[in-house]
Amino acid sequence: MQAPPFLAACRREPVPYTPVWLMRQAGRYMPEYRAVRAKLGFLELCKRPDAAAEVTVTAVDVLGVDAAIIFADILLVLEPLGARIEFAAGDGPVIHNPVASAADVDRLTPVAAGALDYVAESVRRARAGLKVPLIGFAGAPFTLASYLIEGGGSRTFLRTKRFMLDDAGAWHALMERLAVAVRDYLNMQIAAGAQAVQLFDSWVGCLGPDDYRAYVLPHMRATFRALADTGVPAIHFGTGTAALLELVREAGGDVIGLDWHVDLADAWARVGHDVAVQGNLDPVALFAPPDEIRRRVAHILERAAGRPGHVFNLGHGVLPETPLEHVGVVIDAVHELSTRS
Ligand code: CP3
Repeated sequence: MQAPPFLAACRREPVPYTPVWLMRQAGRYMPEYRAVRAKLGFLELCKRPDAAAEVTVTAVDVLGVDAAIIFADILLVLEPLGARIEFAAGDGPVIHNPVASAADVDRLTPVAAGALDYVAESVRRARAGLKVPLIGFAGAPFTLASYLIEGGGSRTFLRTKRFMLDDAGAWHALMERLAVAVRDYLNMQIAAGAQAVQLFDSWVGCLGPDDYRAYVLPHMRATFRALADTGVPAIHFGTGTAALLELVREAGGDVIGLDWHVDLADAWARVGHDVAVQGNLDPVALFAPPDEIRRRVAHILERAAGRPGHVFNLGHGVLPETPLEHVGVVIDAVHELSTRS
């Protein structure tokens, strides 16, 4: 039997057409998602495996994408470590007890067995309703550390970088704890049936290459090494990583995420053609007229040049205001324009 195109592309095997899925494909731009959210709070939805699995499967059924992603959030793993998380409507996530010192790092508790079982159950239920591969995911240690230290999102990452520079020992202790939690969490998702995993290092692009090498790379390498034995493809995603791509590659992953600040062909040459790549349409391009969207999809496919190992995606998640029909334009254009004769 032929491998599903998404998994084949992750392994750089030939595919009948370029597989496509979108980060945040189950989200507020979609009326079916908004209907579920009208009844359940965001955290509540994440913790209800029946509803979370339904949201995952519905997005695939509506869009016709080649992969599903479990409905969860990168911050869920922080709760059993001791963080008090709130998703306040409109304001993004808040952590009420941010990490501010080495003593706060010591106070983080190891994730208790069973604490994230609801995510494993979402994986099992989603698998039962899907014909395409299911992606599990986790936040990468740096991006998780940034939420823990900032207490939420940030523009400058001032607190995070100061913590890193003021107390390298406490920083590495924090990153090690997060790497262990992430490794166990992803292994649990794989055991429950996740067929690929993605590590989201969404905000690591705020670092320069020297800091990435010293403060992040060893922990990412340990995380990817720990996953290698599973045989499940690992996607290494980040944004703003144009200046870090060689180091991102060195850190690990079978598939390297590319955002729209880089030309796909140039970036692929830099990371090497012995890894797969995922990307890299600007999420804001989905607000353009359909002809312009198709032109941009065609351009990215041309830059990939039919080389095995391209997974089409946006460079970051679908924005909540995105016109629903334009999401369909992207998926259809990728399939039509990439079909091999
Ligand atoms: O469809 C999917 O992609 C799967 C679900 C998913 C969510 N979050 C659901 C979600 C995934 C993969 C994530 C990952 C995530 N969460 C990241 C990494 C990806 C990225 O965007 O860089 C980050 C940084 C977070 C943290 C987070 N969660 C933020 C900053 C926010 C608020 C911003 C926003 O978009 O509202 C969330 C909330 C969140 N996570 C929503 C969804 C669908 C919106 C919540 C709602 O329904 O009100």
